[in-house]
Amino acid sequence: MNHRTFLKQLALGALVAAAGLTACSKKEAPPPAPTPVAAPAPAKPAPLKAAFIYVGPVGDAGYSFAHDEGRKFAAAQLGDKVVTTYVEKVAEGPDAERVIRDLATQGNKIIFATSFGFGDSMVKVAKDFPDVYFEHATGYKTAPNLRVYEARFHEGAYLAGIVAGKMTRTNTLGFVASFPIPEVLRNIDAYTLGAQSVNPKVKTKVVWVGAWFDPPKETEAAKSLINGGADVLLQNTDSTAVLQEAERSKKYAFGWDSDMSAFAPKAHLGSVALNWGGYYVKAINDVLDHTWKTGETKWGVKEGMTDLVKVADFVPADVKAKVDAARQGLKDGTLAVFTGPVVDNTGKVQLAKGVVADDKWLGSVNFYVKGVEGKVPAGK
Ligand code: GUN
Repeated sequence: MNHRTFLKQLALGALVAAAGLTACSKKEAPPPAPTPVAAPAPAKPAPLKAAFIYVGPVGDAGYSFAHDEGRKFAAAQLGDKVVTTYVEKVAEGPDAERVIRDLATQGNKIIFATSFGFGDSMVKVAKDFPDVYFEHATGYKTAPNLRVYEARFHEGAYLAGIVAGKMTRTNTLGFVASFPIPEVLRNIDAYTLGAQSVNPKVKTKVVWVGAWFDPPKETEAAKSLINGGADVLLQNTDSTAVLQEAERSKKYAFGWDSDMSAFAPKAHLGSVALNWGGYYVKAINDVLDHTWKTGETKWGVKEGMTDLVKVADFVPADVKAKVDAARQGLKDGTLAVFTGPVVDNTGKVQLAKGVVADDKWLGSVNFYVKGVEGKVPAGK
């Protein structure tokens, strides 16, 4: 083999070797695919912490019970999006501020304080916790992170008044009142106006107890109204005491805040019940959706927040029909409880003929309508 042939063969050999190598590398197992790692599930947001404070015990069968039913409803509706807690029997005043502050410190993102007298405490604590949302029933002071909500209780009181006006034999109604604030005065007046809409002879006597929940005082007040001739009682206090006293004294009365029919089967004419659940779902959702804005909410019969429920079977059908008609009017806007002329018990016109009260007027009611006896005590 001469030198040239040798070189040719060497080149050929190199080519074959290269081809062989290539063929060889083609046959090799592909590099192992990376083991798939399970993509982390999107982190589930921690449940929102929502807290409620009540002035009375949840077992009052009235106001605090109704709020707590609302809390439970919201918890059931919102499932694992929310965790709720409550503190009951919180006195209005310095105690309330301490409790609200504790709840904010514990990481609650929304705090509902459910009684009028918690207002000043809410204002103070809301200032110190700008990232927490504060909700106050039934107050009027707001801030960027504090808003208020309320039931139009007076609509239910008006419906109760229609029944009372027809069922009274003495034409004297009785009202056990808590504190002389516009909300409570509206309820006394609405009860009286409802009764007068079916019985112009009706008068209303009022006893003030200076408490929301004080069953012995509520009982004493009911007794004194009955001794004064009242035979159909309503109260703006939280317990069943007034209704139970009416049962013992063989008079009539209403449940207030919750269905109290079970407590006095003979005396119970109906209950002005509250339903807070829908609002609590909405408020918590507002935080979850980042749509929470300060402001005021006032819901009545139309929105299902209050109504006269469980009207007794023995109430005559024509009376029930009047209640149904009024309820319908409240729903469709053809009836407003405070429509002028509204005249107070000194003869002064408080709302001119034909005028329908707006929320500002309603929020400053400080008088008794004609037919309510006595003088409004100095304010809370
Ligand atoms: N019971 C306890 N607090 C309140 C309140 O603020 N409003 C009413 N209507 N009843 C209450």
